[in-house]
Amino acid sequence: MNHFPHDFEWGVATSAYQIEGAASADGRGPSIWDTFSHTPGKIIDGSNGDIACDHYHRYPEDVDIIASLGVKAYRFSVSWPRVQPLGYGAWNEKGFEFYSNLLDKLAEKNITPHLTLYHWDLPQALQDQGGWLNRDTTAHFANYAAEIARRFGNRVASIATHNEPWCTANLGFGNAQFAPGVADKALSIQVSHHLLLSHGLAIKAMRRVASSAKLGIVLNQWPAMPATDSARDVAEAEWEYARSVQWFMDPIFKGRYPQKALDRMDMSQFHTEAEDMNIIHQPIDFLGVNYYTREFISTDSPPKKPQAAMGVTDMGWEIYPLGLTDILLRHKNDYTNLPPIYITENGMAVADKLIDGEIDDQPRIAYVHAHLDAIHAAIEQGVNVKGYFYWSLLDNFEWNSGYAKRFGLVYVDYATQQRTLKASAHWYRNFVSQQLRKT
Ligand code: NOJ
Repeated sequence: MNHFPHDFEWGVATSAYQIEGAASADGRGPSIWDTFSHTPGKIIDGSNGDIACDHYHRYPEDVDIIASLGVKAYRFSVSWPRVQPLGYGAWNEKGFEFYSNLLDKLAEKNITPHLTLYHWDLPQALQDQGGWLNRDTTAHFANYAAEIARRFGNRVASIATHNEPWCTANLGFGNAQFAPGVADKALSIQVSHHLLLSHGLAIKAMRRVASSAKLGIVLNQWPAMPATDSARDVAEAEWEYARSVQWFMDPIFKGRYPQKALDRMDMSQFHTEAEDMNIIHQPIDFLGVNYYTREFISTDSPPKKPQAAMGVTDMGWEIYPLGLTDILLRHKNDYTNLPPIYITENGMAVADKLIDGEIDDQPRIAYVHAHLDAIHAAIEQGVNVKGYFYWSLLDNFEWNSGYAKRFGLVYVDYATQQRTLKASAHWYRNFVSQQLRKT
């Protein structure tokens, strides 16, 4: 077994809308995901996050489960409309109380909290004013960020501004698969700029609060690979990498958008102001990388798709651990000012079955093991990776896939809310305990 650095953090991750439920409890305002999931035809199983894993009421049990896994870190997100129902104006004390109680419970169990500010649940009232298309949303977000830093900044190890802004821009506004359900490529580019701008503004606002939390962002990343070695496929794959991965990395770490992407994108709706790139180009304390798969790019019709040698997950995503090593090494090469990196998400959807009280999810174990090896290989080659968070602690609301896809280490029976540790949970506990024992 590979040996990770002694201070490597082992954790699990969740997000608010996917697990909390209690959608209208204690003054929470509606978010764009409430609206979207309640719109017929948007979620494949017709479900929504009204109840989800009922974590809002069951968080003590869930924290006990995290503790039982022996991991020392937990990544969660705050629901913006729970603490500020409209996204501007009045705060909701009951909402803050929930997160304060959660942090108390984590502290009691010696689990280090890592907080994400925006995991896609924009207050609906802001969407009614244009949401991420409206530049004013960036200022509201910075205000919310500062309030969270003021209240919780000394009680959490880190605060990430955004989770996977690529998804908000491209799935929320590019192809309408996610809330708010807009399909307009040109608008999605403007949204991505506002998300980046709001990141920079939030970092600046949180620095002024001067808490002890490390500040950063979480990006979803994948290598875009040519399906064949034709020059056209190679060029197209590089372009795809520029418009998806470098599009978010370059502004943050280099203060500019990648020219290769700009050259071919529809910039007709693009509006920036003089100071924007300086605001986005703020030093950050960590980078969170979410990694699941790679993408093949083909210019042939129909598109060529090489065989998935290690198979695919229940999402249909190819299992390709080496891509994680590749992307981490590429970052090391491309950016001289990279902060420490956390793998803030990595995990596998499996069509898990509860049989005689057990879930034997061997494919998930193999997936995690292979990806940990891939991270270890990157560390050996000099990449500063500080931690790993399995996605997810619990089976949960998988966005437009509803409850049909299960990513958890822990199985959730949604009819009874009973939690059952899967074989992968036991495996992860053993793996982590062996790592911690060696330190
Ligand atoms: C990325 C997202 O951050 C998370 O919310 C989602 O459930 C997982 N990946 C799996 O798709």
